[in-house]
Amino acid sequence: MSVLDYNELTIEHFQNPRNVGMVKDGNGYGKIGEPGCGDICEITVRIENSIIKDIKFRVYGCAGAIATSSVVTEITMGKNIDFALKLTDDNVVDFLGGLPEGKKHCSLLAIKALHQAIYDYLINKRLVNEGTVSTQDQFNQLAEQTLREILQRAKQN
Ligand code: FES
Repeated sequence: MSVLDYNELTIEHFQNPRNVGMVKDGNGYGKIGEPGCGDICEITVRIENSIIKDIKFRVYGCAGAIATSSVVTEITMGKNIDFALKLTDDNVVDFLGGLPEGKKHCSLLAIKALHQAIYDYLINKRLVNEGTVSTQDQFNQLAEQTLREILQRAKQN
């Protein structure tokens, strides 16, 4: 696949990706890998009053994964999380004006990572409201411990 197979807008996002990095004071994190090609996308968000105040991404992957991640951050910056949760990979492809057929799966990475980051925020918020955790560190420890228990149980079965 040559970069020439992508349209102009996709190449522009690939060459000048927006919102690259990690949100420093983020309160939601998502990370998704694509087993087929080994690409990985990470998204961090800072959400206040249900609005995505900041969003950044990091990608280990192809031009399509970079361009679609860039677009996802651009579409959702400043938007309500309900809007972001309704976004699909098809919306991202449409926004770019299409992707080569063999590259459509790349748009799934950023959308899945975005939704995971929002769910991460919502779960954290709920646990704080219930008094289960009171700091981000406590939430991270609880999430880590829960993941370890799930993996342990999966090994035993
Ligand atoms: S080829 Fe794997 S995400 Fe693009």
